[in-house]
Amino acid sequence: MIKEKSFDIYKKDADYIKSIIKEDVEIAIILGSGLSSVMDFMEDKIEIDYKDIPKFPHTTVKIHKGKLIFGKVNDKNIICMSGRFHYYEGYEFSELAHPVYVLKLLGIKTLILTNASGGINYNINPGDIVAITDHINLCGASPTRGNNLEEFGDRFYSLNNIYDKDLREIAKSCAIKLGFSLKEGVYFYAVGPFFETKAEIRAMRILGADIVGMSTITESITAAHCGIKVLGLSLCTNYSSDRVIEHDMNDIDIISKKVEGDFTNLVYEIISRI
Ligand code: HPA
Repeated sequence: MIKEKSFDIYKKDADYIKSIIKEDVEIAIILGSGLSSVMDFMEDKIEIDYKDIPKFPHTTVKIHKGKLIFGKVNDKNIICMSGRFHYYEGYEFSELAHPVYVLKLLGIKTLILTNASGGINYNINPGDIVAITDHINLCGASPTRGNNLEEFGDRFYSLNNIYDKDLREIAKSCAIKLGFSLKEGVYFYAVGPFFETKAEIRAMRILGADIVGMSTITESITAAHCGIKVLGLSLCTNYSSDRVIEHDMNDIDIISKKVEGDFTNLVYEIISRI
C-alpha cells in the first residue's frame, strides 16, 4: 500500500515558496536535460534550492542540484524547475506528482514540459523540435494513484486534451515566425535508464508512437488531474535504436547544444504569446 497523501504537505511547500517569491505566478516550465539555457532570458531571478523546500522530493537517491527559478519574461512571472525527477532514479510515481501539485498551489495555469527524445517516426530526425500531441503509457505509470485529494481534482479524470490543442497551435505559429517548422508526434514513455531494444522500438512504431523518452508523462498526467494546461515540447536528440547500429551518447549532447538556441527562442516566443 502506498503512503497516504495529505494536502498539507503540498501546501507547506507552496507557502514556503510564496514567502520567498512574494508574487503570483501563472506559467511554469520543467526543463529537460540539456535545455537549461531557457532560463537565460529570465530577469530578476530568485533561486530556491529543492533541498530547502520542506517536503520537496529531495533525493534519497543522489544529491540533486535541483533549483526552482522564479523570474520575469516580458513582465510575466515565470517559474522554472531546473532539475527534474525521473522514475529511473528511484522516485515513486506519487513523488513525481509532488512538484506539479505544488505548482498548482502557486497559481500555475500553464505548464511547459520540455524533454529530449529518440525519433521513432522516419520523418522525425535529430535536431527536430516536436510538439507532443499525446502519449502512450504502457508501463502503467500512475502518479495520482492512492487516496484522491479532492482539493486538486476528481477521483476519475480525462486525458483527452492532455497536451492542450490551443497551446500547440500557438507553438506552431511561433516556430513559423522564427523560421522553422515544428513537428508533431505521440510520445512513448519508457522507464529507462537503458535505451530501448530494436524490437521494442519496432513495436512502439506499430502502436503509433513517434518519439520515445523517459520523463514528462507523470507531470502531464498530474497536471490533467489538477486542471493545469500542458504544452509538451520535445527535442529529438537521436534516432531510435532500430535506426542506428549503436548509439553514441555524445551525439545527444551535441544535438542539444546545436538546437538549444532555437529551442530557447521558441519557448520565449510562446511565453510572450500566452
Ligand atoms: N530513448 C529514450 N529516452 C531518450 C532517448 C531515446 O532514444 N533519447 C533521449 N532520451
